[in-house]
Amino acid sequence: NSSRDVKIVEVGPRDGLQNIKTTIPTAAKIELIRRLADTGLVNIEATSFVSPKWVPQLADGALVMKQILEHPGHEHQSRQLNYPVLAPNHKGLQNAHAAGAKEIVVFASITEAFSMANQNCTVDQALQQCEAVTKEALRLGIRVRGSTWVVNNIVIQSVVSCIFSDPFSGPTPPEAVLPVVRRLLDMGCYEVGLGDTLGVGTPKMVQDLFEMLLAEIPANKLAGHFHDTYGQGIANIVRAYDMGIRKFDSSVAGLGGCPYAPGARGNVATEDVIYTLENSGISTGVDLAKLCSIGQWISNEIGISYGSRAGMAIASK
Ligand code: HMG
Ligand code: MG
Repeated sequence: NSSRDVKIVEVGPRDGLQNIKTTIPTAAKIELIRRLADTGLVNIEATSFVSPKWVPQLADGALVMKQILEHPGHEHQSRQLNYPVLAPNHKGLQNAHAAGAKEIVVFASITEAFSMANQNCTVDQALQQCEAVTKEALRLGIRVRGSTWVVNNIVIQSVVSCIFSDPFSGPTPPEAVLPVVRRLLDMGCYEVGLGDTLGVGTPKMVQDLFEMLLAEIPANKLAGHFHDTYGQGIANIVRAYDMGIRKFDSSVAGLGGCPYAPGARGNVATEDVIYTLENSGISTGVDLAKLCSIGQWISNEIGISYGSRAGMAIASK
């Protein structure tokens, strides 16, 4: 494994699949995660432990976790692979823990309208849930590894949504973001992913928001989670990188979107991100050619056209 200058969290199996309407066989999800792990990616958001009524596609999360943890594949056994999963509430944490998850992601929206649509509660109620989940994990006993909180081997991650805009209520006031981020860090989350759910942000908007956040929060506590609706994902990552951010979420083939965020498209494609970083002298440890063939394979499986620009260019060479 080569050295890594950045942390890429592959969110395809979670964010990527949650919005696909046709039911994807559990075996294909497991195969996707295995193949992704084969490329050198070490952080793969595997599934969600949310209500199956709200996100039916990921109702098989426990099965997926069981398979990938019990049969990691020979080539992966020497590497530490992280499979974070979403857990919004007590039931989610319980189910994730029972399925063997070592890392959970709590989440909340910055904006009220999306919070209600996505989690059926206010932002404050969502944060209270996040805190209850975090505390519950803490009760299991705590170890601290480096600057990250490791709670009985459960690492607590978090993501906020709608940093720039809400699908129902419009632009997000920038000053609304910091208090939510701070609350998540204060309750013990080791980092906060900043979600541009609608993919409307531009580098200028990234610059203004991250400047505000970085005045109070160290760069290593923040991650960029950019959707690519307006084709701004790569530009936003580059701008955030230049500001010191070293953690980014992305999705193979540019899959993704939230069923409760109408108009939102996929996450920025991991292939495009790896292409940009590796060709800028920034090491990712990821095999781009392998990743591109996975992007094509999973797009075929789902029956959609392949969405990564770098991937298409590499395939047509
Ligand atoms: P609710 O209906 O208000 O929940 O939903 P409830 O507490 O009233 O429970 C209703 C039923 O759901 C009950 O079952 C619960 O047991 C069950 P019943 O008694 O009716 O049979 N339930 C659960 N089952 C399994 N696992 C659970 C769970 N919780 C309750 N964890 C709730 C509230 C939060 C549960 C619901 O709104 C929900 O699941 N929302 C999640 C939606 C979601 O996953 N959205 C996508 C992820 S967020 C995202 O994509 C954005 C992100 O990518 C960043 C970005 O781009 O911005 C992260
Ligand atoms: Mg997302």
